Amino acid sequence: MIQLEKVGFIAGGETILADISFAVTKGDFLTISGPSGGGKSTLLKIVASLLTATSGKILFEDRDLAELNPVTYRREVSYCFQQPALFGETVADNLRFPFEIRGETYDEGRAVELLSRVALGKSYLQKSINEISGGEKQRVALIRNLMFPPKVLLLDEVTTGLDEVSQQIVWQLISDSNQEGITILQVTHDRQEIAAAKQLLTIEGGKISELKRF
Ligand SMILES: Nc1ncnc2c1ncn2[C@@H]1O[C@H](COP(=O)(O)OP(=O)(O)O)[C@@H](O)[C@H]1O
Ligand SMILES: [Mg+2]
Repeated sequence: MIQLEKVGFIAGGETILADISFAVTKGDFLTISGPSGGGKSTLLKIVASLLTATSGKILFEDRDLAELNPVTYRREVSYCFQQPALFGETVADNLRFPFEIRGETYDEGRAVELLSRVALGKSYLQKSINEISGGEKQRVALIRNLMFPPKVLLLDEVTTGLDEVSQQIVWQLISDSNQEGITILQVTHDRQEIAAAKQLLTIEGGKISELKRF
């Protein structure tokens, strides 16, 4: 589904990533770990088409990412940030957004269904994004990415720093989404998430130090 061939990234004269090659097939769950500053976020942003690799090639469904329409691509390969960025005023504003950018009518039922999957009731729709907790914000950000299920979900430390309840809920939704067929690449430092990994990619100093399949 996604194939990286000798991907490199140089910024400000510094090599951030070098010679990164790996492939994920449909339904895979790739866990990415490694020391801070190693290049994990940069790698995910390149796969998300938010940054462009300075060398190498990325193939999505056998087509070169450089030749794909970035707007269409980012709907199929969806990236969820480490620090959830909510916008507008209410939770509903955020869940309406995926419909608006596609020119589709907002489906409140779908929003309520996904809210319930992260243990938030319908009343959350009208809540201000400033009155909900960090863990609730991350849950809203994640279901915003799932309103229209992508083919691939890129997750950058989305469970880091969350309270235990939110972490468990987010983790469950990620596992369920993978069971439902969404291919997942998840950067995490969480010991339990790493222990549960099916495929573990370790990035250190901008290079792959290990790729294990269990
Ligand atoms: N656009 C950029 N320009 C220069 N340096 C960058 C840029 N983006 C990231 N870096 C540097 O690249 C390295 C890897 O960063 P990052 O991908 O965020 O690592 P990780 O997510 O593994 O902690 C860090 O040293 C960071 O300071
Ligand atoms: Mg990072």
